[in-house]
Amino acid sequence: MKLIFLGPPGAGKGTQAVKIAARFGIAHISTGDMLRAEIREGTELGNAAKSLIDRGELVPDDVILGMVKNRIQREDCKNGFLFDGFPRTIAQAEALEAISAIDHVINLDVPVERLISRISGRRMCPDCGAAYHVSTRESGACDCGATLYQRDDDKEETVRNRLVVYERSTKPLIDYYAGKGLLHTISGDADIDTVDARIREVISK
Ligand code: AP5
Ligand code: MG
Repeated sequence: MKLIFLGPPGAGKGTQAVKIAARFGIAHISTGDMLRAEIREGTELGNAAKSLIDRGELVPDDVILGMVKNRIQREDCKNGFLFDGFPRTIAQAEALEAISAIDHVINLDVPVERLISRISGRRMCPDCGAAYHVSTRESGACDCGATLYQRDDDKEETVRNRLVVYERSTKPLIDYYAGKGLLHTISGDADIDTVDARIREVISK
């Protein structure tokens, strides 16, 4: 099974991807998590990407495509994979089409005011990548034991630009995948388990 999770920042792509990938035994591939790992490790790619990410701009298509092509060769992708936050431009989608066929594209639809409150309260685990919200996780610790942190690109000004960039560069993928008959739009404006059940229903058909 090969899936794409599409949706604006804060829609819940990462939250749902972790659950679906575990349930179906497929690899969870988040280009955002991969870039943050490069930044933490201080690689050349990470250093070049950091200023773009901190401004809420996209990393160049060729950099992302190079990362993704390598990643899908790995052993854990043999049963399939779930892309979270990739593709993000029409050029990325066209390049992906040349290397792999996709079964379903899940578009998580959430009203913009909800996106901002979700992102401003988000806390991330540096080790396992789990996302929490301050309203439900006061302890500041992940289930795996690590101390949670706030992403540098979750500052209000950066979030506003991420939403603009989403509208301009990524939203056109909704029509692109609808035209290919692959798109399923699901309301992500419900509790986490309800959204999970909605996604499972669509991909189990
Ligand atoms: P990336 O890391 O992909 O960020 P994003 O797309 O902006 O999405 P987010 O991770 O912010 O949101 P999410 O949908 O995963 O929400 P989450 O589950 O965490 O990309 C970061 C940057 O990297 C980009 O800006 C770009 O610069 C670069 N980049 C990455 N990929 C790229 C690409 N392909 N091309 C070019 N550049 C790229 O949930 C958010 C919060 O809401 C959490 O607090 C969570 O607990 C809460 N929550 C989730 N679901 C629910 C629910 N149902 N009810 C209540 N709360 C919920
Ligand atoms: Mg995410």
